[in-house]
Amino acid sequence: MSEPLNRPVRVGVVGLNYWGPNLARNFDKLAEAELAWCCDLDEAVLDRHRGNYPGARFTTDIQDLLGDDTLDAVVIATSVPTHARLATMALEAGKHTFVEKPLALSAADARSVADLAAEKGLTLMVDHLLVFHPAVEKLKQYVDDGTLGRVFYLYGNRQNLGIVRQDENALWSLGPHDISVMLWLVGEQPVEVSATGESYLQPGVEDVVFGRIRFASGVIGHLHLSWLDPHKMRKMTVIGSDKMVVFDDMETDRKVTLYDKGPLPRTETYGEYIQVRSGDIHIPKIEVTEPLRLVCKEFVDAVATGGTTRADGDAGATVVEVLEAMTTSLNNAGAPVAITGKGS
Ligand SMILES: NC(=O)c1ccc[n+]([C@@H]2O[C@H](COP(=O)([O-])OP(=O)(O)OC[C@H]3O[C@@H](n4cnc5c(N)ncnc54)[C@H](O)[C@@H]3O)[C@@H](O)[C@H]2O)c1
Repeated sequence: MSEPLNRPVRVGVVGLNYWGPNLARNFDKLAEAELAWCCDLDEAVLDRHRGNYPGARFTTDIQDLLGDDTLDAVVIATSVPTHARLATMALEAGKHTFVEKPLALSAADARSVADLAAEKGLTLMVDHLLVFHPAVEKLKQYVDDGTLGRVFYLYGNRQNLGIVRQDENALWSLGPHDISVMLWLVGEQPVEVSATGESYLQPGVEDVVFGRIRFASGVIGHLHLSWLDPHKMRKMTVIGSDKMVVFDDMETDRKVTLYDKGPLPRTETYGEYIQVRSGDIHIPKIEVTEPLRLVCKEFVDAVATGGTTRADGDAGATVVEVLEAMTTSLNNAGAPVAITGKGS
């Protein structure tokens, strides 16, 4: 491993229209980072940010960043079809690379970006933002420390009225969040997925998708993704053998609720009724921290120390493999599709 950097990590952000400015703001605020470059093809977009970052250099050409030997890392917040190409360019130029979700539009491209980062010994991180949410951190703690018992299944609700997209369906637009959280919480490779959905507003662009992920141990993850729904829901529920937990991002004071509910262990005789138990309900305090700040901090820390991140190239590629396999299933009336993993 190389020597740790004992200075702020010099970062350049590419793509500054809608989401990129949130990344630029967070990297700029971190003591461990220095926002050195802002890049966008569109001068008018750049003009909106010049006043905020007087210390940064502005350009419409990513080559200016790639050719700057003093720049440590490139952050890609451009439109999704450009991710794999720009990430490959950044890694080829020897830059640590942060890519917005999803890492690529195909599993093969995502895996090749992840492999390139590994081959070059560079940090590659994908913005799986929700994995860094303090409430998801709490769920992960409950899974890992045995509070829930054995995890049986989990499901995510991500529904709202709008934003209706034209260039991607509800699966690709909304799914990366819940898929990345499920993979992180369960901590196993998915083995099979299926998905059904329908396009009502535009031909070929599904407005609602119901997806299913099966893990080797038998854990099932289910997703309800829709931009055509009267409810605004941002929820993840995990059912364990001992307890059940709900993360509801629409709540302010009770983001996480832990239910002491579950089946009573069968005492003996075969054929006896399974009884259930309903005990206390606990609401843990969840820190209010902007998850994107935690994402940016984990990236610069990994760059500075050569350490790992929880949203590395492998995690990014696995999410795209699940999205791609679900798309195959969607196009085949929900038929199950095996996930072979690691680019095979
Ligand atoms: N993590 C999240 O919660 C979250 C939320 C919203 C968007 N996003 C992601 O952020 C990314 C950007 O989304 P957006 O809505 O801001 O997209 P956008 O299309 O509004 O903006 C993309 C910008 O990138 C610029 N760009 C494209 N190619 C470029 C190149 N080669 N060099 C320099 N600039 C280039 C464009 O000029 C544009 O200004 C997407 O990957 C999206 O999925 C993530």
